[in-house]
Amino acid sequence: MKDSGRTAEISIGGENYSFPILSGTTGPDVIDVRKLYASTGFFTFDPGFTSTASCESSITYIDGEAGMLQYRGYPIEELAEHSHFLEVCFLLLYGDLPSASQLEDFMSRVTNHTMVHEQMRNFFNGFRRDAHPMAIITGVMGAMSAFYHDSIDINDPVQREIASIRMIAKVPTIVAMAYKYSVGQPFCYPRNDLDYTSNFLRMCFEVPAEAYPENKALSRAMDRIFILHADHEQNASTSTVRLAGSSGANPFACIAAGIACLWGPSHGGANQACLEMLLEIGTTDRISEFIKRAKDPDDPFRLMGFGHRVYKNFDPRAKVMKESADEVLSVVDSGRKPTLQIAKELERIALEDEYFVSRRLYPNVDFYSGVILDALGFPTAMFTPIFALSRTVGWISQWKEMIAEPMQKIGRPRQLFVGPVERRYLPLHQR
Ligand code: SDX
Repeated sequence: MKDSGRTAEISIGGENYSFPILSGTTGPDVIDVRKLYASTGFFTFDPGFTSTASCESSITYIDGEAGMLQYRGYPIEELAEHSHFLEVCFLLLYGDLPSASQLEDFMSRVTNHTMVHEQMRNFFNGFRRDAHPMAIITGVMGAMSAFYHDSIDINDPVQREIASIRMIAKVPTIVAMAYKYSVGQPFCYPRNDLDYTSNFLRMCFEVPAEAYPENKALSRAMDRIFILHADHEQNASTSTVRLAGSSGANPFACIAAGIACLWGPSHGGANQACLEMLLEIGTTDRISEFIKRAKDPDDPFRLMGFGHRVYKNFDPRAKVMKESADEVLSVVDSGRKPTLQIAKELERIALEDEYFVSRRLYPNVDFYSGVILDALGFPTAMFTPIFALSRTVGWISQWKEMIAEPMQKIGRPRQLFVGPVERRYLPLHQR
């Protein structure tokens, strides 16, 4: 970050105030209002933070107008095409693509931390079998701080690193355990001879009676979904993790807070809601009925998987996901080809409709992901846990960046108070 040499001038009641304009390497400049309240007695007012930069970051850059997403400067399309998830994890965590020896060391460290403490199995038995897997992984991730006391001192960079590796390594095991618990099947331990993503698929779908046949095409599709969901700048769940981390909470608690936020249907819960919407639409001739509902200001229904706070152009992840959906459905006959056809027709109709065009609403990352996850064999309740699995590395990378920030302070927004002014207590008989 550097001072642009320019300033923003504000005049209040005839008083003029000047605030520096700061520049990053690319993207919008910012007006540094850190001294606004001290010098003017005024707060800024920005519910939803539509015009607020909460931090400086070097990790992920989004250009919503151009429909562009980069992890540490590398376009998401190139990473989805040429990289794999653990290499992307290294890139997000450490800032550069790894050398061969760095990658080998990183993959070995992750592989050798994939098992969870055996006693953690007991947490699962405390949940009803029909508990949403997001409820389970939120609880189990938070509970990890009770098992790994040697990696919760956030002031020790060695412990921060161990906690990061542990969470990246164990989150697939925890998510797979949540799935197995929900379907009443025995847990399946990780295997160190498999790659990260194949291991996850096997932990989900292998049963004692029958091995899960490794399928490179499906594993590649799963790995691409992990890459596409790994990080996304200061979205709601990442901002939750940063805010929790700013209080000095342990890393497991911070990531559990991120999982809880991601669960919301406006955020990471949209992939589950989107496939359920596509299945409810059922046939292309019912699309117009749902488009009508989405446009009705009196109907709370929104097209799930459509629209985005930042992207006012195509979400680049949705484009990659759409191509991947075609590939997966050509390999797996999940019976969902009609569903994919409905999604494509819905996209086509919406993108020709003035309501969506004028509001610059395009398919987002969640629009096609559900069709792929369904084809891979996952129930809709597992879609958001898989999003959380992938986003764990993004949350950790952002949390590490925040903790290492010399200016780091506890996040504590203010408010515009519109409640009652001071009044006297009245005894009961006078009310
Ligand atoms: C993710 O932030 C991130 O980066 C998130 C994410 C990530 O990787 O972390 O990208 C992941 O969360 C993707 C978004 C998943 N959510 C959905 O698909 C749910 C459906 N989409 C919406 O609820 C909505 O688009 C949001 C929440 C995603 C964005 O909402 P905004 O930016 O607050 O926009 P808005 O609500 O102010 O909408 C602007 C207008 C409104 O109409 P008007 O009041 O102007 O008449 O667009 C309309 C909205 O009603 N609108 C929609 C719509 N999304 C917005 N109308 C119908 N269907 C939709 N999906």
